[in-house]
Formats: sequence, C-alpha cells, structure tokens
Amino acid sequence: MFKRNRKATVIVILSAIIFVGNISFTNHLQPRFKNLKVLSANIADEQLDDVMDGFKASLGVKCNFCHAPSKTQQGKMDMASDDNARKDITREMMRMTNEMNQKYIANIPHTDTAKIQMVTCTTCHRGQAKPVVAK
Ligand code: HEC
Ligand code: HEC
Repeated sequence: MFKRNRKATVIVILSAIIFVGNISFTNHLQPRFKNLKVLSANIADEQLDDVMDGFKASLGVKCNFCHAPSKTQQGKMDMASDDNARKDITREMMRMTNEMNQKYIANIPHTDTAKIQMVTCTTCHRGQAKPVVAK
C-alpha cells in the first residue's frame, strides 16, 4: 500500500515538473505580441506600453485613434488587428522617424555632442494628430 502511494507521488511530482517545464518553453518561443512589423518581436511588455503611451501623448489621442474595435468582444479593442488604417500610417511614421535619425541626424556635425537631439513624433506633432502648419 505504502509503496504504491509513493509511486503515485513520484508520478505527480514528475508530471508537475514536465508541465512547468513546458510552460516556460512555450513562453520562450512564442512572442507575446502577434503583429509587430516595426518594433522588435521580443519587446518587453513595459517597453511596448511606454511606446504606446508616447504615441498617445505626442499626438494628443487615445488608443482607439489607431486601434480597431474587437469583432468578438463588445466594447473592447483588438490591438493586433490592422483594420484601422492609422496603424499602418503610424508604421510608416516610425520608419520615417528612424530613418531621419539614422541617416541624417546621426551624421551631422553636432554642436553639442553631450546632448544630441533626436527626431521624435513630438518634434513634428506637438500634441496634435496632424502637425500644425505655421501661417
Ligand atoms: C498613433 C497610433 C497608436 C496609438 C495612439 C496606440 N497604438 Fe498601439 N500600436 C500602434 C502600432 C503602429 C502598432 C504596431 C507596431 C508594429 O507593427 O511594430 C501597435 C501595437 C500595439 C500592441 C501590440 C499588439 C500585437 O499583439 O501585435 C498593443 C498591445 C498596443 N499597440 C496597445 C496600445 C494601447 C494600450 C494604446 C493606448 C495606450 C495604444 N496601443 C495606442 C499604434 C498605436
Ligand atoms: C517630420 C515630421 C513628422 C514626424 C517626425 C512624425 N510625423 Fe506623423 N505626420 C506628419 C505629417 C506632416 C502628417 C500629416 C500628413 C497628412 O496631411 O496626411 C502626419 C500624420 C500622421 C498620422 C495620421 C494622422 C491623421 O489625422 O490621420 C499619424 C497617425 C502619425 N502621423 C503618427 C506619427 C507617429 C506615431 C510619429 C512618431 C513615430 C510621427 N507621426 C512622426 C509629420 C511627422
């Protein structure tokens, strides 16, 4: 009786190890986010949050300015969906901003090398969805 119980205990512990092992394995291989084309697929949650909060602040908008509503859950947004055209516009803006920095800003002679100023969304947008044009 005692022997059989011990065997059962060993099996329970072993399957727990396999189960836990399996979870960390899957987490490692499957990126958390489903549809990133510009940002790194391995970006940490907090970093992605920072980028999205930055977009919100620099354009003076909310998440739903760029993200589409969910088709299955009422009142929710589907962050991975590309149904809102502003998401692709934003991807182009991200590529453009990166290129400005890498191709141009990085290569000019800097008068203040201690504090090189990079182009960001705010450089142009300044809290507006469409940059204000000086008249
Ligand atoms: C100015 C447009 C814009 C705003 C505002 C914005 N997002 Fe995004 N979001 C994007 C773009 C573009 C991507 C995809 C980036 C890429 O392809 O690398 C994205 C991707 C995401 C993803 C990853 C989805 C996936 O699984 O691929 C999440 C989560 C997300 N956004 C959440 C938010 C939240 C929450 C807010 C509001 C706080 C927000 N976003 C505001 C443009 C925006
Ligand atoms: C060099 C200036 C510049 C930079 C930098 C820039 N943008 Fe833009 N953006 C513009 C201009 C100009 C427009 C308006 C184009 C038009 O009239 O359709 C625009 C339009 C947009 C739109 C569409 C707005 C709408 O009303 O539909 C989004 C979204 C956007 N930008 C997001 C971003 C984000 C996010 C960044 C940073 C990654 C960024 N932009 C960086 C100049 C810039």
